[in-house]
Amino acid sequence: MTRVLGIETSCDETSAAVIEGVGETVELRSLVILSQDVHRVFGGVVPEIASRAHLTSLVPVAEQALREAQMDVRDLDAVAVTNGPGLVGALLVGVSFGKALAFASDLPLIGVHHMEGHLFATALEHHDAVPPFTGLLVSGGHTMLLDVEAWGRYRLLGSTRDDAAGEAFDKVAKLLGLPYPGGPHIERLAAASDPGSYRFPRPMLRRDQRPGDADYYDVSFSGLKTAVLHAVRGAGDGGHRSATSGDTALSDGDRGAIARAFQDALVETLVEKTARAAQQFGRTKVVLGGGVACNRTLVAAMQRRLADVGATVYAPSVRLATDNAAMIARAGLFHLERGERSPLDLNAYASLPLPGLVEPAAR
Ligand code: KG4
Ligand code: ZN
Repeated sequence: MTRVLGIETSCDETSAAVIEGVGETVELRSLVILSQDVHRVFGGVVPEIASRAHLTSLVPVAEQALREAQMDVRDLDAVAVTNGPGLVGALLVGVSFGKALAFASDLPLIGVHHMEGHLFATALEHHDAVPPFTGLLVSGGHTMLLDVEAWGRYRLLGSTRDDAAGEAFDKVAKLLGLPYPGGPHIERLAAASDPGSYRFPRPMLRRDQRPGDADYYDVSFSGLKTAVLHAVRGAGDGGHRSATSGDTALSDGDRGAIARAFQDALVETLVEKTARAAQQFGRTKVVLGGGVACNRTLVAAMQRRLADVGATVYAPSVRLATDNAAMIARAGLFHLERGERSPLDLNAYASLPLPGLVEPAAR
């Protein structure tokens, strides 16, 4: 049994977790997530404030994770820490802590790619959510469609050309005058609304696209966001007020209808692109990850559509979909078992290529 302490500080969640296991048999022993609510005041994450908040909370959060796991540092076998991509100042707090703890306790250190962590999260809850599968990672900063042949072998099929899926939710929420982060607010509003006369184009989704076309798997959400902006202006009081400031004259009915029509367009796009990938590679499993995977409408639509191509959809619970250290510990365990170690001069990176990428050759 190997015990790994995971540390995650790439954005606005300070998190620590302990997992225990071997191979695919892994148990979550503890998970502590401290969300930095302060950013709500600013309508988005303020990097400097995030770094400072990690600095004050990381030690108690890690201590709490060990306490809940009923363990001591001496019980650990390794320390895994997110070292990119993310806010570099925020990442540095976790990386410095991880390095100091590993050095002082003579433990191996494993630097983990944040998005690879998201890919492992679902496996902590669903034992079948293991390769081979089609992976869709939808977070605030990234949108990636992957064919996962095996852990550590990732074929990147498509990604976003502009805004990430979560970013689109957050920006549209702002246009509708909803709080940050916008995803859960849009989902709630959309669930209670009818799209009415609103219908937005499905971005980068056309029937004449074929495998091998550059836009077959890629997505783009900035045009959709602009379409929402025009709808908000059109629905307001003749466009006199600034829609970008959130100071809109939208009626509750229009706000709900636009939220619903936006979510419908985004969900259908993600679902169709994922179905294409599962079909082309003959995968019978689809694994979702990242904050947008909290969206029950997305998950339900994905389950319905993927059933048509004979694939089962696995989605993480809210706690494991959004940023957390359990997924980092889980990905760290995989690398540890492969004999990998990070040096004590491990650095933090704002952008970092996903490890284990293989050529996107079609089968
Ligand atoms: O993975 P995550 O916690 O952080 C990043 O690594 O970015 O994802 C955060 C994103 C935010 O953009 C948030 O609006 C979105 O996930 N999100 C949702 C929902 N819950 C969170 N988007 C749509 N529907 C939700 N229910
Ligand atoms: Zn994330």
